[in-house]
Amino acid sequence: MKIGAIIVAAGRGERAGGGIPKQFRKLAGRSVLARSYQALAAHPALTAIVLVTHPHDTARLDAVDEELGLVTRRVVGGATRSDSVRAGLAALSDAGVDAVMIHDAARPFLSHALIDRLADALATHSAVIPVMPVTDALMRLDASGEILEAVDRETLGAAQTPQAFHLDTICQAHDQAAGQAFADDAAVIRAAGGTVFSVPGESGNYKLTRPEDFQRAEAELMSTAITVTGQGFDVHRLEPADTMWLCGVALHEGLGLVGHSDADAGLHAVTDAVLGCAGAGDIGQHFPPSDPQWRGAASDKFLLHALDLLAKAGGEAVHVDVTLICERPKVGQYRAAMQARLAELMELPMARVNIKATTTEKLGFTGRGEGLAAQAIVTARMT
Ligand code: CTP
Ligand code: MG
Repeated sequence: MKIGAIIVAAGRGERAGGGIPKQFRKLAGRSVLARSYQALAAHPALTAIVLVTHPHDTARLDAVDEELGLVTRRVVGGATRSDSVRAGLAALSDAGVDAVMIHDAARPFLSHALIDRLADALATHSAVIPVMPVTDALMRLDASGEILEAVDRETLGAAQTPQAFHLDTICQAHDQAAGQAFADDAAVIRAAGGTVFSVPGESGNYKLTRPEDFQRAEAELMSTAITVTGQGFDVHRLEPADTMWLCGVALHEGLGLVGHSDADAGLHAVTDAVLGCAGAGDIGQHFPPSDPQWRGAASDKFLLHALDLLAKAGGEAVHVDVTLICERPKVGQYRAAMQARLAELMELPMARVNIKATTTEKLGFTGRGEGLAAQAIVTARMT
């Protein structure tokens, strides 16, 4: 059975606050949407993924596109979650799948085991959802808050997503429910008279709904985080020139660095240090000097790509320390600009970016002014 997925991410996240829709907020360096997306995309059973988004979020989506990594179909959602799901189903209709898992972008912590359980159940059921037992005592209240009666929790459960369906079953049910809004897709099936099976949900697969859910998620991610370091080293030849690019800043000291790209040895060392944190090899593997597309390239690109790879590996750079080794140019007057540029590129506060410079007492190739060397150490938090 070929299974696709729909991620509904067109909501406004009003209860969560935070200034932007909750699916675009970052948790330990990676957006909620990227986390949900990657959890589904990394599962081999899911072939096509449709992302349902809000028309106001185009710029935000472009910003996470790199994080998402895979080419995905995007469609515009509707005013209610049910409308958004209908838009997603329409977009999935020609993807050649027999079944679909419909998932809230706001649940980024689902496991592969949960997807496995749902996929297995689809072999024998046309609608299956994850359900958690309810642990609190439950009661029915009136509008004033007075308790009317206790409700037996043994017969109740809390529904999660992804919710999995045979495609024809869920499409028919949603057609019948056109124009109506339901809390979830299991309710749409029930309204159409269908049956819905359940598998055990996961306590970790909670929905980020209120500000305290974000606090919980951050705290949980931090409690298991580890710190890694990566180091980088680069050398380029010096020659007379109008401009030298160093740590993303243009220096006009009558000297330039020679290389295939803009030869910014500072950014190359930082890029290699970031790749070190990500366990992703070195800059030459990702941007071979033999490839003409990198001729004269601004090295910002290399660093941003390395940071994306780090994010995909679950990492977030938290500190960078650079040492520039040369007799000339004198780095001092450019130090603050370099620090600011690196802070901007790496989304770090200035206090987490340090630029040092040293000479080698006229010894060696740097001492003779033949070349400039750069070293960098990047510290990253892996979650
Ligand atoms: N959703 C959607 N289209 C809507 C409403 C909700 O795609 N018109 C999505 C949300 O983006 C979210 C999921 O449905 O991933 C679950 O909804 P909810 O947690 O209620 O998210 P929001 O509607 O964004 O939040 P709030 O209700 O607090 O505004
Ligand atoms: Mg909502």
